[in-house]
Amino acid sequence: MSLQHKIEQTVAVLREAARDFAPACFANSLGAEDMVLTDLIARQRLDIEMFSLDTGRLPQETYDLMQEVHKRYGVPLKIYFPDCTAVEEYVAQNGANAFYDSVELRKRCCYIRKVEPLKRALAGKRAWITGMRREQAVTRGSLEVSSFDADHGLQKINPLLDWTNADVWEYIKQNDVPYNKLHDHFYPSIGCAPCTRAVTPGEDIRAGRWWWEDTEGRECGLHVGKSTPLKRG
Ligand code: ADX
Ligand code: SF4
Repeated sequence: MSLQHKIEQTVAVLREAARDFAPACFANSLGAEDMVLTDLIARQRLDIEMFSLDTGRLPQETYDLMQEVHKRYGVPLKIYFPDCTAVEEYVAQNGANAFYDSVELRKRCCYIRKVEPLKRALAGKRAWITGMRREQAVTRGSLEVSSFDADHGLQKINPLLDWTNADVWEYIKQNDVPYNKLHDHFYPSIGCAPCTRAVTPGEDIRAGRWWWEDTEGRECGLHVGKSTPLKRG
């Protein structure tokens, strides 16, 4: 399928989301995929609220891009911050970088800094949109473009599911979309600064995320659980 065709399909999915699942929102991590969606949503003036989860530990380059999005598109990007008491207690009990000590403490940090703020961001919404792609990870192979997310109680829509990495970068170059400068330094997937590193040529695109842990289950908890495919007509 040509990129042009994929773009048209993606815009159709976004329009449907805005129309059939209002109020719909877009979880924007400012990664390359999410910048494609930012560009499409802003250009098409779709009624979809964008938000980012600012964990408080993001790389400087991600904050630079937030600023650029603000200047370039002029569309609001709502920021959700973690609950300060939960962060204060976690750090007091376990230390500032305790996520390296055990998988349990790492998941707890992700829960406090991402999952709980996500729940607040999704409250009152009927659909959320993500930039996930099928080829990003084995855990993402069985995703659907649109399905009911039983964990969060609303529709979950992945409009870029069948885009390749090359499609994403072709779109970014063709449309002069701003992107995270870390991508130029071998960071294909970017999360929090202490939990993301560069990959070496040939390594998996998510190899730089929580690299000290076993490969299985290297997800932060934003995308857990089973979804039920949307039944059409
Ligand atoms: S993660 O689960 O490993 O963190 P990944 O970085 O691949 O996820 O991003 C997958 C999708 O999750 C993104 O396209 C975006 O929709 C959502 N997401 C991840 N991190 C954030 C964030 N900090 N703020 C908003 N959405 C996010
Ligand atoms: Fe905490 Fe690392 Fe998860 Fe960020 S990615 S919330 S710093 S454990």
